[in-house]
Amino acid sequence: MAYSQIKAIFLLCILCFCFPQAKGSIFDGPKYNVYVWNALPNNSPTLTVHCASKDDDIGFHDIAPTTYINWSFHASTLLKTMFFCHFWWNSNDKAFEVFNDLDTCVKDSNITARATVCQWTVKEDGFYLTDGQNVGYKYADW
Ligand SMILES: *[C@@H]1O[C@H](CO)[C@@H](O)[C@H](O)[C@H]1NC(C)=O
Ligand SMILES: *[C@@H]1O[C@H](CO)[C@@H](O)[C@H](O)[C@H]1NC(C)=O
Repeated sequence: MAYSQIKAIFLLCILCFCFPQAKGSIFDGPKYNVYVWNALPNNSPTLTVHCASKDDDIGFHDIAPTTYINWSFHASTLLKTMFFCHFWWNSNDKAFEVFNDLDTCVKDSNITARATVCQWTVKEDGFYLTDGQNVGYKYADW
């Protein structure tokens, strides 16, 4: 490692140590909100969801029809912020990353605007994603 790099890291450590509140602004990007809606039929079996990132566990939740869970976090490219969810419903189960891109929620999504809301809607035929403003599109089957 070049001396200038070592010096830069050293200064960054000093900065974080002296100003703990600065850590947020150096490593954290904008704030994101992820929603998981249950749009399954009213009389359908329970939808159970477990969402987590490397260091943030949202826990296991049973989501009743027409209700949702949501959480927020600061995402950063540097730390490669990623959340996944595991879904269980009616003897189906499915797991995928629900957030891994700072612009489009997930890398292969068709969201074009810069999204800070990632809204997942669980239906009988699969999983829909929207940025909360525009109409959702189907992202995956069960
Ligand atoms: C969940 O969503 C509600 C309604 O949009 C919002 O007011 C609340 O701040 C959100 N909670 C979290 C933890 O992001
Ligand atoms: C996203 O997907 C929906 C549903 O398939 C489609 O109607 C819409 O045109 C797509 N948007 C883009 C930007 O590809």
